Amino acid sequence: MRLGGVWRRSIDERDDGSVRVLDQTKLPFDVVDLFLASEEDCARAIRTMEVRGAPLIGVVGAYGLVFALERDASDANLEGAFGRLFETRPTAVNLGWALEAMRHHVAPLAPHARAAAARLLARRIADEDAANCEAIGRAGLEVFRAIHAAKGGGAATLHVLTHCNAGWLATVDWGTALAPIYLAHDAGIPVHVWVDETRPRSQGLLTAFELRSHGVPCTYVADNAGGHLMQHGEVDVCIVGCDRVTRSGDACNKIGTYLKALAARAHGVPFYVAMPWSTFDGRLVDGVREVPIEDRNGDEVRLVTGLSAAGTSASVRLLPPEQPVRNPAFDVTPAAYVTGFVTERGVFAPAELEEAWRAMAKGAGV
Ligand code: MRU
Repeated sequence: MRLGGVWRRSIDERDDGSVRVLDQTKLPFDVVDLFLASEEDCARAIRTMEVRGAPLIGVVGAYGLVFALERDASDANLEGAFGRLFETRPTAVNLGWALEAMRHHVAPLAPHARAAAARLLARRIADEDAANCEAIGRAGLEVFRAIHAAKGGGAATLHVLTHCNAGWLATVDWGTALAPIYLAHDAGIPVHVWVDETRPRSQGLLTAFELRSHGVPCTYVADNAGGHLMQHGEVDVCIVGCDRVTRSGDACNKIGTYLKALAARAHGVPFYVAMPWSTFDGRLVDGVREVPIEDRNGDEVRLVTGLSAAGTSASVRLLPPEQPVRNPAFDVTPAAYVTGFVTERGVFAPAELEEAWRAMAKGAGV
């Protein structure tokens, strides 16, 4: 990722063994590093959304387990830490996926060997996430090239709409939905991004921050604007990230994604979901009924945080505390509304996902 002209990752290891992440609750106005050095630090960072985004919380969860085992590598602590970290955020499957991979790897080892093995695996999960996201970028770039060519190519602007933040902040590097955008921009395709605000937590602020850092032209829009823009031919393609995808191709992502998919279908706009395979949950079929949807604190809706006139961070109340609020954090877009899944192994129609997954499980590759 490009931040202040310098390349860095969203998470990296320090010499003292701790990991450095960006405190996403301070962005976009303050770029503040956070150092995580214990299971508790990692659990708090995930729960409070200092770190967020499905792939990144998987990696932070893995390091949480490393720190737990460095303190106490007993079976009891392995199970205890697994459970405590697992319950920090329920919807994104990447957290459970990473924790299960870690447990599977270290549980058969003698306790004295567990912490070192866990650290090596956490590093590998992080490295693979960065490589997978770059590969998603390359696969998505070909999708964008085709849509741009169909528009006449050359100087024609490719207008992309995205929801939430599925960029490098949400992963170890590159991002999922934003990776093809970065590569398209770098390849000289005149790309412009409509950035959905994504209330209540406004992750669109993070997306706009990322795109500005990379020099990609973008325009911030209120969540309700997408349908209007599509109706007027101002969106060529939608691409979003995801937190869990079922065998049938139902895609769970940040609340509001489903409405954009409905509008895209109504106006013939292709709707792509970018996904590392660590986000695929082969145990589930019916996303609407089976994916656990995180219900978050109503104060995320009642309050907004930003800069005061004095330039300091401030929270402003929109609603009195007694106002009942419902705050589901995710929704499910049924497979029928998804044009394709952009993965590190290529682009798949929803109906092709299960077979691809089975082939991978057999080690046959895709
Ligand atoms: O609640 P968040 O901000 O963690 O939700 C994140 C999203 O919904 C992202 O779009 C998703 O995790 C994809 S991340 C590459």
